[in-house]
Amino acid sequence: MTLIDTAEVYSNGRSEELIGRVIAGQRDRVFLVSKVWPNHATGNGIARACEASLARLGTDHLDLYLLHWPSPDTDLSSIVAAFESLRSAGKIRAWGVSNFKVSDMEDLFRVSHGDRCATNQVAYNVGSRGIEHDLLPWCEQHGMPVMAYSPLGGAGVSLLRDPTLVHIGAAHSCSAAAVALAWTIRNGNVIAIPESGSAAHVKENAVALSLTLTPQELHTLDAAHPPPNR
Ligand SMILES: NC(=O)c1ccc[n+]([C@@H]2O[C@H](COP(=O)([O-])OP(=O)(O)OC[C@H]3O[C@@H](n4cnc5c(N)ncnc54)[C@H](OP(=O)(O)O)[C@@H]3O)[C@@H](O)[C@H]2O)c1
Repeated sequence: MTLIDTAEVYSNGRSEELIGRVIAGQRDRVFLVSKVWPNHATGNGIARACEASLARLGTDHLDLYLLHWPSPDTDLSSIVAAFESLRSAGKIRAWGVSNFKVSDMEDLFRVSHGDRCATNQVAYNVGSRGIEHDLLPWCEQHGMPVMAYSPLGGAGVSLLRDPTLVHIGAAHSCSAAAVALAWTIRNGNVIAIPESGSAAHVKENAVALSLTLTPQELHTLDAAHPPPNR
């Protein structure tokens, strides 16, 4: 609940500026994540992008810094070296990647210190379970937590009108959103980062932390939203 996820590209830096104003005076209460866009990932671009993000956020360090997307033009070994250098300098506590497939992760782990990657942030929700086929088990085998973006189904959140989620929510006197989030974090290796501009929704979403879905409910959700079979 105290993780704030942003990126230099979100509203051209205005997301980071807004967050900077909100966390002023209470930086230590949040776990701050930002991301560098791949076109800044050459030369000393990562160091410059990180300095700019820190300035907009009004802080001297990020808890986690991610490469936003893989790119065929980026040299993974220089990216890892840039992240490690920022870590040594105390500008970031940890680094990771986003939107990496298994083959991208394998390329990353082949470069020096690539296995220091803390996480991979990818789309994952009960209506979009593709990573269960390969990426999720790969990350589990490598002891790496996955960060699930769009855990409520993303823009439009039609997932939250799904009758199965609504029905299970009613049985627990909670919202379909809490069910979707409890499902996403059910195995302990996934961190969900739901977005909301509504305090009431954030409170609803927090219920997921104390909601344990029963084996029968998980089975019902599997039937309504089958896991990938290949
Ligand atoms: N790494 C990447 O490439 C990448 C890509 C996409 C997103 N992300 C990150 O992941 C975060 C979340 O992903 P997302 O925004 O795509 O999808 P999401 O969190 O699945 O859905 C966000 C939507 O859910 C609504 N919502 C939240 N709680 C709700 C509730 N209790 N009841 C009903 N509606 C609710 C929000 O509206 P209200 O404001 O009305 O609550 C908003 O429209 C983003 O903020 C971003 O930081 C990363």
